[in-house]
Amino acid sequence: MRPRRLDEFIGQEKLKDNLGIAVDAAKQRDEPLDHLLFYGPPGLGKTTLAHIIASEMGVSVRVTSGPAVERAGDLAAILTNLQEHDVLFIDEIHRLPRAAEEVLYPAMEDYALDIVLGRGPGARSVRLSIPRFTLVGATTRYAMLSPPLRDRFGAVYRLDFYDEPAIAAIILRNAGILKVPIDDNGAEEIARRSRGTPRVANRLLRRVRDYAQVRADGSINAAVAGEALLRLDVDDLGLDDVDHKVLRTIIEKYDGGPVGIETIAASISEEADTIMDVYEPYLMQVGFLQRTPRGRIATRHAYAHLGLEAPRSAQAMLFE
Ligand SMILES: Nc1ncnc2c1ncn2[C@@H]1O[C@H](COP(=O)(O)OP(=O)(O)O)[C@@H](O)[C@H]1O
Ligand SMILES: [Mg+2]
Repeated sequence: MRPRRLDEFIGQEKLKDNLGIAVDAAKQRDEPLDHLLFYGPPGLGKTTLAHIIASEMGVSVRVTSGPAVERAGDLAAILTNLQEHDVLFIDEIHRLPRAAEEVLYPAMEDYALDIVLGRGPGARSVRLSIPRFTLVGATTRYAMLSPPLRDRFGAVYRLDFYDEPAIAAIILRNAGILKVPIDDNGAEEIARRSRGTPRVANRLLRRVRDYAQVRADGSINAAVAGEALLRLDVDDLGLDDVDHKVLRTIIEKYDGGPVGIETIAASISEEADTIMDVYEPYLMQVGFLQRTPRGRIATRHAYAHLGLEAPRSAQAMLFE
């Protein structure tokens, strides 16, 4: 279901436009594409775009990730084995070890590796050239990238949550690929609960397809989608159990906040990183959660969504 070309990639219009121009320009000049970085929450299409770029450029892609690169030498080996103009995709690039990151600096800037020969006072450094390549980095945590690494990308693209029509279009396209009949209302029903995230939309589509096959005539309309989604643990905004726990913890245990992310994580036995990467961005997007210097705060929209009464503000009480 992964789109292979830029024109099959739905949504993110501005990003697609800019990327298309960069690709055409590089191809016309017969140069590698500038190094680029994608950042944003999981499931929005970063990995997909890395592959699309390689196929639009007509080159191969070598895939690795920050945690998979254990030593600087691992990265040096990958770099020397690339072909001219190839794409090297490093996922979770914020988790690249420091020593490996330092190998990247001259590689990105000068297509060179600096190798130290010998030890002690006699040691000397030699520069090896490597193929002119394109580094595509992806991260969910832009802020965790070191400034020198950040500065070496020619372009940085932020992926935003998709709007409902874009998600519905993705669902219709993928239903076609899965050969499951679906109407517009059925697609919209699924899209509403997809948290603006293509990966979630695809997952819900598969579950609804199962339900339609077993409990209906195999095709998806609004009613079938609605019934199927009721059985999944997602509410009418697509929030799941963990989202609810996060909000309830802030509201019920900490009077609506502010409360630190580590405290929330410990209360619900989740990793703070997972909450920050996966849950928090969407809760902020729908306006249920605010990030402040003193911690997270649940907004009155969150209270309303959970059917709870929000505390009256000090301001309101003054006038009673
Ligand atoms: N714009 C899009 N159009 C269609 N499908 C998409 C789009 N973006 C992502 N997807 C699909 O969503 C899933 C998650 O995308 P992926 O690139 O793995 O996200 P990320 O790397 O940002 O976590 C993939 O299966 C991909 O096919
Ligand atoms: Mg990915």
